[in-house]
Amino acid sequence: MEQYREMYERAANEPEAFWSELARNELSWFEPFRKTLEWNPPVAKWFSDGKLNACYNCVDRHVEDGRADKPALIWEGEPGDARVITYSELRKLVSRFANVIKALGYKRGDRAIIYMPMVPELPIALLACARLGVIHSVVFGGFSAEALKTRIEDLDATLVITADGGWRRGKEVRLKDAVDAALRDCPNVRNVIVHRRTGSQIEMQNGRDLWWHEQEQQLGAQGDTCPPEQLDSEHPLFVLYTSGTTGKPKGILHTTAGYLLGTMMSTKWVFDLQENDVYWCTADVGWITGHSYIVYGPLAAGASVVMYEGAPDYPAFDRFWAIVEKLKVTIFYTSPTAIRALVRQGDKWPDSHDLSSLRVLGSVGEPINPAAWEWYYRVIGKERCPIVDTWWQTETGGIMISPLPGATPLKPGSATLPLPGVVPEIVDTKGNTLRDNREGYLIIRKPWPSMVRTIWGDPKRFEEQYWSKVPGAYFTGDAARRDEDGYYWVLGRVDDVMNVSGHRLSTMEVESSLVHHPAVAEAAVVGKPHEITGQAVCAFVTLKKGEWDTGALSQELRQWVGKEIGAFARPEEIRFTDALPKTRSGKIMRRLLREIVTSHAVTGDVTTLEDMNVLASLSTQQDEE
Ligand code: PRX
Repeated sequence: MEQYREMYERAANEPEAFWSELARNELSWFEPFRKTLEWNPPVAKWFSDGKLNACYNCVDRHVEDGRADKPALIWEGEPGDARVITYSELRKLVSRFANVIKALGYKRGDRAIIYMPMVPELPIALLACARLGVIHSVVFGGFSAEALKTRIEDLDATLVITADGGWRRGKEVRLKDAVDAALRDCPNVRNVIVHRRTGSQIEMQNGRDLWWHEQEQQLGAQGDTCPPEQLDSEHPLFVLYTSGTTGKPKGILHTTAGYLLGTMMSTKWVFDLQENDVYWCTADVGWITGHSYIVYGPLAAGASVVMYEGAPDYPAFDRFWAIVEKLKVTIFYTSPTAIRALVRQGDKWPDSHDLSSLRVLGSVGEPINPAAWEWYYRVIGKERCPIVDTWWQTETGGIMISPLPGATPLKPGSATLPLPGVVPEIVDTKGNTLRDNREGYLIIRKPWPSMVRTIWGDPKRFEEQYWSKVPGAYFTGDAARRDEDGYYWVLGRVDDVMNVSGHRLSTMEVESSLVHHPAVAEAAVVGKPHEITGQAVCAFVTLKKGEWDTGALSQELRQWVGKEIGAFARPEEIRFTDALPKTRSGKIMRRLLREIVTSHAVTGDVTTLEDMNVLASLSTQQDEE
């Protein structure tokens, strides 16, 4: 703890000296940098005159530094197949695939969409893009063809990397079919490279679609090497789409050096990473957690990374614990939703496995409730393993607030203290700093290396969304409180963003999907508390004139949202109503709807409410149910 305090002080007093020393010592450079930070809010440039390559830092340098035979990826397929890939094998696989992309004419600055299952070819595809300076954007395999299309268009991508399908609960998720549907409207995509995973029947369009393995075979032996491009520190590494407060997802842009430094250092600090650790983060690479803590952070740190393709409950509820036992996992990082779902199944599942290899447990994506924390600590960690509750966001790139295991005294439910170099603050609506134990907005005062650089194609939205609430400071969109020990308690979003199973979802996105349906006149969506997923989607819908079978329509609307966004966005509940509560200016009062689904009582200021009867009837409807 002493050491942490010292480091924190140093970083706070001399941030540039702190970060530049780490960047020099921890990253491998082709050309060293001289400038540490150029800060013209909201535009930050870190280490801008240096040159490096993220893939070289994650792969090649470890082969050169004596880790050639160390496992880099330890993979478990859902059906039970397995692969171990060492750092030297990873270098070869990544180089070969980079040569495939290169031979097709793709080069630095081009954009590739990656839509794949959790197989080793997924990180290989990311790293191959990074090696060439091709900007990647991974779209989570649970997103629909429609969502995929919007992202391809927004990014103006010319390459798509996918697979025939992937395995989830014993069933095939047919990814290539979704790509085919999306590409009907995306004429700028020149090629689709398809990895064969499930071996099922798919369509291949002549000239456009190519099998990964066939392209590789054509390379011959000289394909094993591919020199990494020497890229600027601020070269865009990837864009990852996340939900905001409008219907349109935001393309969060991260660049090379700062992102890599932030994710690598936080991996080392937060998980106390040691040379022989077997590290497992259960997220999907399609979300920021997978980017930062399956691929870039741990690989830059030279770790052995476990990756699992499928569902935690397949073939039974002990799949996670069976993998921990089999691979002797030492560091385990998962979400509160996964923990809550497994708590429900009882202790017999973890109790039937030897979990003694575990050393550090992590939690991410949403607040962890005390009951889940206790169970994780007692039943999984046997009261030996510290739990690191890590607070961060797609935009922050890496972990911002978290305990350091073994050092920081824990308080269940609190992400505890900021990492060195992170300067959070709690402010009121006017941007004034609040005293301890007051709830307010969580902001970050000073720039940090792994911060979001812009929203792809929309710098204006970037400025408005994150930098205008408190001028010069980063607005997180979360509410929080700091206690008398300086510990942070993150309370949840203050905007129209829901958090379902640790996945960010915008109310507007679901609403605009619902109103596309021919039967729907208006829709208002809110998150309601849910025992397992934290929040669930609840939709209030008014219908166009006509005779409707609301039972059937409810099912149809759920399917509809699944098709437009993805199955994970389907409303759990749809309530049909005659009207929605609105202000006099016609804005839907989501706050009231939120209160209806959270409690029965409606409190607070309702003087702006257009029609009090609407509210009364919505509340009664629930009482009747
Ligand atoms: O509300 C916070 C919540 O998740 C949001 C970020 O979502 P996303 O960008 O999808 O990234 C998820 C993985 C980092 C935050 O604004 N959140 C994340 N971690 C925590 C959390 N809330 C409470 N405690 C956490 N540890």
